[in-house]
Amino acid sequence: MRLRNVRLVHFRNHAETAFTCSPDVNVFVGKNGEGKTNILEGISYLCLTKSFFAASDATALQLGTEAFTAQGSFEAADGLTFDTVVSYQGAERRKVMTVNGQAPESMAAMVGQFPVVILSPENSNITFGGPGDRRRFVDLVISQASRGYLEDLLEYRRVLRQRNRILADNRERPGSVTAALEPWTESLVNCGARIVARRIRFVQEFEPEVRTAFGRVAAVNEAPALEYRGTVELNGDASPDAVRSAFARSVERVAPQEQRAGLTLVGPHRDELGMTINDLELRGYASQGQHKTFLVALKLAEVAFLRERCREAPILLLDDVVSELDPERATRLLTEASSLGQTFITATEATMFDRTYGATGYRRFSVRAGQVTADE
Ligand SMILES: Nc1ncnc2c1ncn2[C@@H]1O[C@H](COP(=O)(O)OP(=O)(O)O)[C@@H](O)[C@H]1O
Ligand SMILES: [Mg+2]
Repeated sequence: MRLRNVRLVHFRNHAETAFTCSPDVNVFVGKNGEGKTNILEGISYLCLTKSFFAASDATALQLGTEAFTAQGSFEAADGLTFDTVVSYQGAERRKVMTVNGQAPESMAAMVGQFPVVILSPENSNITFGGPGDRRRFVDLVISQASRGYLEDLLEYRRVLRQRNRILADNRERPGSVTAALEPWTESLVNCGARIVARRIRFVQEFEPEVRTAFGRVAAVNEAPALEYRGTVELNGDASPDAVRSAFARSVERVAPQEQRAGLTLVGPHRDELGMTINDLELRGYASQGQHKTFLVALKLAEVAFLRERCREAPILLLDDVVSELDPERATRLLTEASSLGQTFITATEATMFDRTYGATGYRRFSVRAGQVTADE
């Protein structure tokens, strides 16, 4: 997938920004606070209908204005084009999207249509943060590759909320809540088992990609590994049916604790994705450099994974990566990135890119106070 052009109106500090993209590498250079990350965020709206970090639509609206628009023309590998518009009305808090003039069935239906991979400083929480940060990473990758998965996630979240409410309401008045819980438990187990089984399969498919990418970026002999650590006890069989039976047994086993805690205690919402290098937990043992390399490897693996699953090379957004990595690793990442598909990079300095990319398919822009100009 490639973006031909982008236009942002009243988006963050961009009153009106429009540019034509290189099909390969696009670099945005400017000082801190000029509006570089905001451009990548605008592209994120076009691809995912939302910001890539947990920002609300309202904060993306330029201060003192009433509505923002992000507009872009995508070109798919087969040559089809998709003129995409996402706009947000501040007063009504209403966001609408159109693709070639038509509204999609839902915002969720758009996820994965324009696959995107983002590497930004905020992502450091994937390796440094808690289990929830890693679950969010896994969920976004699989959601872009599988529409059914995102639907399951949304449904699971709804069921979990209901089930937790019943458990919490009954904590003060112990008694039999089993009957009230039963339909919710059933949905929880059915939907949750599909999520767990898919995540386990994902980890199996994804890990080799991570290892390959890690080797390319780090060029050191270290063995990164991923491991799905579920709250549902499995005996080796991770087929959806086996996970469903095991899940049902686990829920039964923890029923007394759940009633005391007033919370659902097993399921994909409590699972962890273990990350190790040479069998040592990243969290606790890895150096800063190893954390960063691991993160870059996860993102490059995500590109490879989505390219295969979506049959479309994802757009790669690299925010401030050069300042985050040592020059050697940064150069390897940039070389790697440009071979993967269309890339958008932000940086405070241009030198490194001129050295890495020379003239081929590389376009450089200057960003100043929300204004973007193409460099000659
Ligand atoms: N809703 C908004 N309206 C106007 N300006 C905003 C809004 N949100 C952020 N900004 C401004 O955008 C700038 C930050 O842009 P950003 O893209 O993060 O900079 P950088 O070039 O360092 O990546 C800041 O000057 C900030 O005040
Ligand atoms: Mg920035």
